[in-house]
Amino acid sequence: MVKVGIDLISFYTPSYFLDLEQLARVRGIDPNKFRVGLGQEKMAVIPPDEDIITMAADAGARVLQKTDAADIDLLLFATESAVDQSKAAGVYVHRLLNLPSRCRVVELKQACYGATAGIQLALPMLREGSAKKILIIAADIARYGLKTSGESSQGGGAVAMVLTRNPRILSIEPESGFHTEDVMDFWRPNYREEAIVDGKYSCELYLRLVQKTWEQYTVLSARTFSDHARFCYHVPVPKLVEKAHQCLAKLNGLPKLSSAEIETQLGASLQYGRQIGNCYTAALYLGFVSLLENTAVDLSQQRIGFYSYGSGCIAEFFSGVVEENYRDMLDTFYHQKLLDSRQALTPEEYERFYKFSYPTDGSLKNIPECQPGRYRLTAIQQHKRIYTTA
Ligand code: CAA
Repeated sequence: MVKVGIDLISFYTPSYFLDLEQLARVRGIDPNKFRVGLGQEKMAVIPPDEDIITMAADAGARVLQKTDAADIDLLLFATESAVDQSKAAGVYVHRLLNLPSRCRVVELKQACYGATAGIQLALPMLREGSAKKILIIAADIARYGLKTSGESSQGGGAVAMVLTRNPRILSIEPESGFHTEDVMDFWRPNYREEAIVDGKYSCELYLRLVQKTWEQYTVLSARTFSDHARFCYHVPVPKLVEKAHQCLAKLNGLPKLSSAEIETQLGASLQYGRQIGNCYTAALYLGFVSLLENTAVDLSQQRIGFYSYGSGCIAEFFSGVVEENYRDMLDTFYHQKLLDSRQALTPEEYERFYKFSYPTDGSLKNIPECQPGRYRLTAIQQHKRIYTTA
């Protein structure tokens, strides 16, 4: 069977963050709750002149430096932070990235699962040859509200991936376990800027479905826990990922994993997420970039297990094998520079960015210039979003 999967991958996150120790201080919370209890360190803060479209374009532009944009015939944009009920966010990105007009563009929504849906829809098209190169972009801004219990689980960013035949980073295997259930653990009605969440219930579901999807996946693939060199999970909070991994080990009859085993099997995949926070649809794939770029040993020909969870809810467990020479395709220096050059905000500055409001009556608002990436949201006028490229 022809190999299909991820040929290129890169991420973008804005140039501001809030240190969660600062957040703990102003909210009167013990900083160890965030650092030790939830495994969080920092969260990305999105300035007013960036949104899912500018972040997606920034991530997309990086991968398109290494491939011919004229070959992209499908753009799938996964998000749960949509800016329009009708127009797909990807159509703006299509223009900003100068993609060919013979390119289908569509937006995908199912909470944090959207990008995985995109991948699973893309793979058969690549196998059968009805698409040549598929650009999948996952971009989100996680907002729970100031002073809420989810506040430290915010963040934002975008991951762009080009999927092809004979990919140079990861070949995705066909077997996967998936499960859908109509539940209300986390949702955002159209009239709300922030998610409504039943935090404990959402964590219970995340853990229960890792078991269900794994059981299906192992029946279909006949693989065992030890057939996987590393694991990547959707990362709402890093501590939950560690709990899910312990559940998987227990399910496979293994004793409780030591900290060293957890570190080897998961540690590198959580590094970028601890700096950025939750970025919903992008979080699992940010974890994959983090794994590849922060693992010292060569992962060529090693199998990675992936667990995707989207509240509401759909979960999926699947796997892929890392290609030889994958390191030549990574963007490690750019990503580390992006993270290292960010500016720390005070809690007051974070709240000012958070409370920035956009007009809803058609009036003109010029958006103040912060330190955007290459693309910025310059104004909103007559209910239209105006984007510019630096
Ligand atoms: N020192 C060390 N540890 C501490 C501590 C301290 N001073 N204070 C508390 N802790 C520990 C607690 O014991 C607890 O650990 P255990 O769960 O192992 O017992 C941990 O820190 C968290 O404390 P709480 O349970 O009291 O935290 P909370 O009630 O404030 O809620 C949360 C945590 C539910 C994750 C909340 O942040 C939240 O609602 N987040 C948003 C929803 C979410 O991320 N859900 C995850 C699954 S849903 C999903 O995956 C989709 C998605 O992306 C949203």
